[in-house]
Amino acid sequence: MNQRKKIINCNLTDPNKILPFQYPWARVHYKTGVANNWTPEEVPMQQDIELWNKQGTGSLTDNEKKMILWNLGFFSTAESLTANNIVLAIYRHVTNPECRQYLLRQGYEEAIHTDTFIYICDSLGLDPDEVYNMYQNTSSIKAKDDFVVAITESILDPNFKTDTVENIQKFVSDLIGYYIIMEGIFFYAGFAMMLSLLRQNRMIGIGEQFQYILRDETTHLAFGADLINTIVEENPEIWTDEFRQTIVENIQKAVKLEVAYAEDALPIGIMGLNSEIIKEYMEHIADRRLERINLQKIYNAGNPFPWMSEIVDLKKEKNFFETRVTEYQTGGNLDWD
Ligand SMILES: [Fe+2]
Ligand SMILES: [Fe+2]
Repeated sequence: MNQRKKIINCNLTDPNKILPFQYPWARVHYKTGVANNWTPEEVPMQQDIELWNKQGTGSLTDNEKKMILWNLGFFSTAESLTANNIVLAIYRHVTNPECRQYLLRQGYEEAIHTDTFIYICDSLGLDPDEVYNMYQNTSSIKAKDDFVVAITESILDPNFKTDTVENIQKFVSDLIGYYIIMEGIFFYAGFAMMLSLLRQNRMIGIGEQFQYILRDETTHLAFGADLINTIVEENPEIWTDEFRQTIVENIQKAVKLEVAYAEDALPIGIMGLNSEIIKEYMEHIADRRLERINLQKIYNAGNPFPWMSEIVDLKKEKNFFETRVTEYQTGGNLDWD
């Protein structure tokens, strides 16, 4: 029996014996998730509803409304895609029990995120068919989802097993597709746009919910990167030059798709955001993701939004907006953003 390969491959470990822990980092991420508990209904939406329906001075511009709709259209379905991948693909192959405990927690958080978009649609009186069909009929959103689905679809085969070098590579590609590209790159132009609006004190309920989602996603990303790095450490034969090159190329394609999405959502540049600044931010984020999974950074871009790291510190924001009474811990892992 090969004792090295223990985080995946059920036949080598007992998935029901959580103690003693083998991967303490998985427990840290689980505890961070539990400490960050929240639900969308705790965030009042009254001011958002008033601003969304306001006419005349101080109302939202058509471009601001479009930007909000684009992000609701992308996130509302991306959350379900991510949740489905955890349950239908990742959980089956990651047989280590403390990692599975974390995946159950992450699945719950994705359900909270899905619920957030239901709550926003209900509060603003949006047409659910319009919002929930955007991932199929808005080309810049569809291109992102199609890209992740194409990278990851082979492991959805019920007969797929992580028992060969090629199949472990396919599984790691799935983890990179969802944790690094979907949650680590494709969410971030949207976070920057929605949190820019929050910084202007507009749509503060949705903005606060995006803050909580960003904080959760920071932990999802950190878990995903630790999982990828552990699989590579335990199966070093998968980390070939060719495989690493494919990962880098996929991340480069993802940056291009995310910049195209931002150009589409922000046609004339609003709130001091334009496609150039979003491009710089996405390249900065991509470098951080590459380094986190032990690959060389490629862009050397600066960070145009240093406030994105600070915004994860919700204590500061809570005192500023005073929309919540519950004390929450900060999410940690601030260096991710
Ligand atoms: Fe999520
Ligand atoms: Fe997530």
